[in-house]
Amino acid sequence: MKIEGARSCETPLFLYPEHMTETWEQQVKAQIRRRYANQIGENGAAKAIEHGYPSDLIESLPPALIEGYSGCGYLFEGLEFSGDETVVDLGSGAGVDSYIASTRLPRGTVISVDMTFEMLPKINYQQLLINICGDIEYLPLADACADIIIANASFNLAISKEKAFAEAFRVVKSNGKLVARDLIKTEDLPAEVLSDPLSYNTSLGGALEEDALITEIEKAGFKNVTLSDHRPFSYVHSVKIEAMKLS
Ligand SMILES: C[S@@+](CC[C@H](N)C(=O)[O-])C[C@H]1O[C@@H](n2cnc3c(N)ncnc32)[C@H](O)[C@@H]1O
Repeated sequence: MKIEGARSCETPLFLYPEHMTETWEQQVKAQIRRRYANQIGENGAAKAIEHGYPSDLIESLPPALIEGYSGCGYLFEGLEFSGDETVVDLGSGAGVDSYIASTRLPRGTVISVDMTFEMLPKINYQQLLINICGDIEYLPLADACADIIIANASFNLAISKEKAFAEAFRVVKSNGKLVARDLIKTEDLPAEVLSDPLSYNTSLGGALEEDALITEIEKAGFKNVTLSDHRPFSYVHSVKIEAMKLS
């Protein structure tokens, strides 16, 4: 299909050739894209600090960047960079984590991937960010191109966790790692979430239980999978995910 004019979240199926997805998947993803395209950043800095980001780090970020924060936790604690890595941020949103990663990579690259065109990072640090409007379940990236995959509150929105983790595994190099924040379900969700056909759209409906999430990550091929730093997040919990692709 040839798409004319500017892309937007309303651009019909620009990401999904028909053979790739089912109609319901396209519809749910269109809803997710619409939601994030229309999201107006509100109290991003306060939310990030509440989610564990150090306040001095948040104060050092451009205010227009932190406004767009919509993650579920801080993933950089204990994450060391040598400075020349390629980092891929899956479901980067406005790019708070992409930007933080880029400040630690004097010779590296950050590739921000998000299917919501309007969300992609608009603030670049030392021209290190490459924006890709794409789907984390069908990554338009070469095999083994990344040293580190980061993701914040995006796997829970993937319609197929299996495809999303398999793609993360495919694009990370041997001995590379996955470091993410995501949501897990710790008890039954309330009726208002369960009865919402678009609950993926709210992030909560797409959260797996802890064991099921570990199983999905291991099924993709990752080893040494750990979930830590459990924090209450609405009706679910936010956790830090760490996993390795061993050679
Ligand atoms: C909760 S927001 C988090 C954004 C960002 N990581 C942050 O911490 O601010 C989730 C993001 O994932 C994106 N997203 C959801 N499903 C996706 C998919 N299948 N492929 C690419 N991006 C996706 C949404 O467009 C949205 O920008």
